[in-house]
Amino acid sequence: MNLVMIGTGYVGLTTGVGFATLGHQVACVDIDAGKVARLDRGEVPFYEPGLQEALKHVQEKGRILFTSDLKSVIGGAEVVMIAVGTPPKSSGEADLTALFAVADQIGSVLDHEAVIATKSTVPVGTNRIVLARVREAMRAAGREELTSLINIVSIPEFLREGSAFEDFLQPDRLVIGSDDRVAAQITERLHRDIIAPRVMTSLESAELIKYAANAFLATKISFINEIANLADRVGADVRHVAEGLGHDHRIGPHFLKAGVGYGGSCFPKDVSALEQISGAHGYAFKLLSAVIEVNNRQREMFFKRLVEELGGVRGRRVAVWGLAFKAQTDDIRESAGIEIAQRLHATGAELCVYDPQAMNNARAVLSPHVEFAPTAMDAAEGADALVVLTEWPEFREVSFSTLHDRMLEPRIFDGRNHLADLHLENQGFIYRGVGLGSYASA
Ligand SMILES: NC(=O)c1ccc[n+]([C@@H]2O[C@H](COP(=O)([O-])OP(=O)(O)OC[C@H]3O[C@@H](n4cnc5c(N)ncnc54)[C@H](O)[C@@H]3O)[C@@H](O)[C@H]2O)c1
Repeated sequence: MNLVMIGTGYVGLTTGVGFATLGHQVACVDIDAGKVARLDRGEVPFYEPGLQEALKHVQEKGRILFTSDLKSVIGGAEVVMIAVGTPPKSSGEADLTALFAVADQIGSVLDHEAVIATKSTVPVGTNRIVLARVREAMRAAGREELTSLINIVSIPEFLREGSAFEDFLQPDRLVIGSDDRVAAQITERLHRDIIAPRVMTSLESAELIKYAANAFLATKISFINEIANLADRVGADVRHVAEGLGHDHRIGPHFLKAGVGYGGSCFPKDVSALEQISGAHGYAFKLLSAVIEVNNRQREMFFKRLVEELGGVRGRRVAVWGLAFKAQTDDIRESAGIEIAQRLHATGAELCVYDPQAMNNARAVLSPHVEFAPTAMDAAEGADALVVLTEWPEFREVSFSTLHDRMLEPRIFDGRNHLADLHLENQGFIYRGVGLGSYASA
C-alpha cells in the first residue's frame, strides 16, 4: 500500500521504516529539513537499536523516501499517517499546534480519497477535530465534493524507545478506532502482516486507551515507589517485595522497579494530560493526581538525601552516570539524570557527567560549566559521590576496584537500584539505593 508518514521522530520514523519493511511504499515528511537531509543519506538522527540497519535495507529496496514537501508525495497515498509531537503545555494540557497545522496542510493538498490515521497521542475528541480541519481546508481549496471520501482512524502507538522497531513488528496489541468501517478495514489491511490481537473500537475509546495505558503503568511505578519508601523505613528490601508481588499473575512483574520515578517523553506528559482531560470534563481523577505527586516527591527525596548525606554539595565533586531517561535511548525528555544534574549544578556542585548515547542531547541543555567525560570511569575521577540515574548495562561492567581507587570518596547513590545486587558495600563503597532498607536506622 502507499503510505505517507508525517513526522519522522522516534515514532514516525520507526513506524515508517516498519511499514516499508513489511513491503509498503512509504513517503516520510518532516518539517525539519536538516533531519530530512540526514535521513535521505541513510542516517538515523537519534539512537534507536536496529533502526539504522532497517532503514538501510528499505532504502536499498527503494521502499522509503524523505521529503519536506507533503504536496510532492501525497498523490497516491491511501493512508496519511500523523506522528508529530504533542508536547505538554505548562498547564499539563497537550499542545496540538503541530498536529492541527498538519491537518490544515493535508486538507490543502489532498485531492483524492484517503484515510487519515493519527498515531500521535491526543486528547479524547481530537481526531474529530483533525478530520473537521482536514475537510475544512479541502473546502477552502475548492474540493468540497471530495470531503466525504476522507475519513479518520485513531491508531495510538505503544512502542517503547530502546526496542521501538521490535515493538512495531511485534506489538502486544493493535488498537484501531474509527466510526467508518471502510477506513478501519483499510487500516487493518495496512497492518495485515502484524500478528497481534486487534481492538477495533471508536475514536474516543482508542484515544482514551492510550492515556489509560500510560497512566496505569505510571501508577504501578508510583505504587512501588511508595512501597520502596516504606521499605526504607521498616528495613525491608523493595526488590524482594516486588518479586513477591510480580509472581501474582493478577499483578505481573513489569513496572515494579523502584527508583527516582518515571520520566521520558510520554509518561509525565500523558499522565498530566489525562488529569487535565478529566478536569476539563468535570471529573477529579484523584488517583492520577497522587501518581503525579508521588513521582515528583520521589525525585525530590532522592536529591534531598544525596545533599544531606554529603553534608551539602557546594564545591563537592559529583559524578552523574546516565542522562537518557532510560537505557537504550538518547532521549533526555523529562529525564531524571538531566534534572538532577541541573539541580546539582545549581546548588554549587562541581559536576562531571557521562552517558553512552545521550551526551549530545545533554550538551544542548546542561550548563557549559558541566564537564562531560569520555567514559564512565573518567566521570568518577576524584568524585565525592557518584549518582547513577540510567540503567545502562555498561555501568555494571566497570572495574569497581578501579572505581573505588579513582573516587575521592567511594560513595554511590543509585537512583535505579541498578548496582544493588553487586554488593558494593563489600568492596568498600558506601552504597545507597531506593527502598533497600538503607534508611531504616537513619
Ligand atoms: N516517543 C515515544 O516513545 C512515543 C510512544 C508512543 C506514542 N508517542 C507519541 O507519538 C507522537 C510523536 O512522538 P515522538 O517521540 O516521535 O516525537 P518527536 O518529537 O521525536 O518527533 C516529532 C517529529 O514531528 C516533526 N514535525 C513537527 N511538526 C511538523 C509538521 N508540521 N510537519 C511535519 N513534521 C513535523 C518534528 O520535526 C519531529 O521530527 C507524540 O504524540 C507522542 O506522545 C511517542
